[in-house]
Amino acid sequence: MESLDELLAEELKDIYSAEKQLLRALPKMAKKASAPELKTALQEHTEMTQRQIERLEDVFEALGKPAKAKTCKAMKGLLEEATEIMEEDASDAVLDAGIIAAAQKVEHYEIASYGTVRTWARLCGQEEAANLLQETLDEESQTDERLTELAESIVNPRAEEGGDVEESSAGGSKKSGSKKSSGAKKSSSSKKTGGSKSRR
Ligand SMILES: [Fe+2]
Repeated sequence: MESLDELLAEELKDIYSAEKQLLRALPKMAKKASAPELKTALQEHTEMTQRQIERLEDVFEALGKPAKAKTCKAMKGLLEEATEIMEEDASDAVLDAGIIAAAQKVEHYEIASYGTVRTWARLCGQEEAANLLQETLDEESQTDERLTELAESIVNPRAEEGGDVEESSAGGSKKSGSKKSSGAKKSSSSKKTGGSKSRR
């Protein structure tokens, strides 16, 4: 690799792969989410991701390169962690908090990547590509903010209250009372984890 142009092309292949991986994962996350507001946000982000993939194809075209993906290992790892969280035996609200955390890690990764390729495209004199990438960057930032708001206003308070109705009405009388439900109430500091802020 000798030039910024080449590095830009490589990074675009990475993010093209990342978006495609995410497109497959988001419906599973939406299905697993319980809070209707979170479900809707994830469903809408699925549609947005589809459009972002198409926009990336426009970027490749603007650069006169074929649209190719090169497996993004970072996204693969982030999504593996998301899957692990979703397989946890926890209350609905706690799972929702975990899903938001996973989704925000993904958004922050994308924000870092899009910010970088936007800047490189501009440096390389590729204004059209830079503008397209800026559009997606703005969308990712808005998604991140929406997730923070959801975490702070709905999901984290519920998770801290001790999860879903089913579990709390069981009153801890079940033999398995000590397992995951305690995680929901563990500490007040857990309240902050799902709401990382990233204001532009
Ligand atoms: Fe995206």
